[in-house]
Amino acid sequence: MDNLIVKAENLVKIYQSGKVRVKALDGVNLIAHRGEILGIIGPSGSGKTTLLNIIGGLDKPTKGTVFIDNTEITKLSEEELVKFRLRNIGFVFQFFNLIPSLSVVENVELPLALLGVSRIERRELASTTLRELGLIHRANFKPSELSGGEQQRVAIARAIITNPKIVLMDEPTGNLDSENAKNLMKFIEKVQEKYGVTFIIATHDPIVVRQCERAYILRDGRFIEELNGQAAVNKYSKL
Ligand SMILES: Nc1ncnc2c1ncn2[C@@H]1O[C@H](COP(=O)(O)OP(=O)(O)OP(=O)(O)O)[C@@H](O)[C@H]1O
Ligand SMILES: [Mg+2]
Repeated sequence: MDNLIVKAENLVKIYQSGKVRVKALDGVNLIAHRGEILGIIGPSGSGKTTLLNIIGGLDKPTKGTVFIDNTEITKLSEEELVKFRLRNIGFVFQFFNLIPSLSVVENVELPLALLGVSRIERRELASTTLRELGLIHRANFKPSELSGGEQQRVAIARAIITNPKIVLMDEPTGNLDSENAKNLMKFIEKVQEKYGVTFIIATHDPIVVRQCERAYILRDGRFIEELNGQAAVNKYSKL
């Protein structure tokens, strides 16, 4: 895989609900290079979330394979997948998904607790990360005491705390105004530079797409084109 961190081949996903059969993915091929910011863009219903869920091992494809850094995750059992995800994949969703009863630092250290890291070590690592990311002044706040932009930055801190191979984001700016969306992209670039994280971002938002090194254009479950972020914004201004 060398400089590739993700390789997905010929992904097909068919949902069957009652008599209705939906082909959400129809032969998708995707690669991600180590440390890049990769966009997946397309209209509602084109298959973005389905694709992210399959790359992240939250869902299985009907057909096709996904490799994450030499591990074929499409071959893993449910139990193996749970372990693999915890160590190797960070998730960030549109609705921040922080646990309301926990403070910021407790939210960030949660994945480490699930991995069995000791209380002292995880508090130290979470605090260091919050400090490095300029969030330490919010460490003892509850999520409800933060702005939307701050909540999303905390969600990113939590996603990278285990040093994952990839971070998957599903419409991370969907609940942010354009100023906060711009700041979030600056933050993501800072995280990428500092920790070399690979981000794969499903989005409609031109503010996000512009900052992507590459963007795949998805239509009806198929990639129709691959462009750099700025070219994608120019060509598909109405995402
Ligand atoms: N669990 C499911 N059961 C049946 N059909 C589904 C399921 N999940 C998704 N689909 C269908 O698969 C297609 C792709 O959905 P998906 O959620 O991946 O699109 P999306 O690009 O993320 O859209 P959006 O921008 O609205 O989030 C849609 O037609 C959707 O109705
Ligand atoms: Mg979606």
